[in-house]
Amino acid sequence: MKNLLIVASPKKNGISRFILSILDRQEDSEIIFPYELNIQACTGCEACFAKKNCILNDDMTKVYKKIEAADTITVISPIYFFGFPAPLKALIDRTQVYWHHPLGKKKKGLALMIGEMPNVFFIPYYEKIWKYIFHNWGIENFKLKVFGSTKTKNDIDKTEVKKLNDWLKES
Ligand SMILES: Cc1cc2nc3c(=O)[nH]c(=O)nc-3n(C[C@H](O)[C@H](O)[C@H](O)COP(=O)(O)O)c2cc1C
Repeated sequence: MKNLLIVASPKKNGISRFILSILDRQEDSEIIFPYELNIQACTGCEACFAKKNCILNDDMTKVYKKIEAADTITVISPIYFFGFPAPLKALIDRTQVYWHHPLGKKKKGLALMIGEMPNVFFIPYYEKIWKYIFHNWGIENFKLKVFGSTKTKNDIDKTEVKKLNDWLKES
């Protein structure tokens, strides 16, 4: 089983990395850090309507291959202004190519979002956006956990992270 993990924080010692350390990563796991990649913003050129590829030539070429090959995709992301840090948003937007050329493969997905604020009112909104993002990546079976009111690593419920990780590993 190929597992792709996308870790969207710029911090090397932040809460996202702490969550990553709790996850039991299996052998065939790959981690990508959008902040360390060159991913240009989607220009909305619409070239991908006709052809299943993006005309921009950058690190997304490698990311497309990883998304296509994965059986599970886990995204760990801080919440930035009720959305995603810019490099992750660029990655997500560039997968518009799959909107026009759907991925057949059925994968499992896990989205873990971290915010300083409680974020309770925004959970239905995050559910909705992950439904569309994951659908676009060939994932209908997914779970979302929003770690709201998170100021330090101690605020993270490790048991909850482990439970979600176990769910992801079930075939
Ligand atoms: C630019 C920026 C915007 C942020 N916006 C939000 C927000 O809208 N809601 C929220 O709950 N936290 C927000 N935060 C707080 C981060 O989500 C929080 O610090 C998170 O724990 C960072 O995770 P990390 O340590 O893995 O980077 C923001 C932080 C930054 C730097």
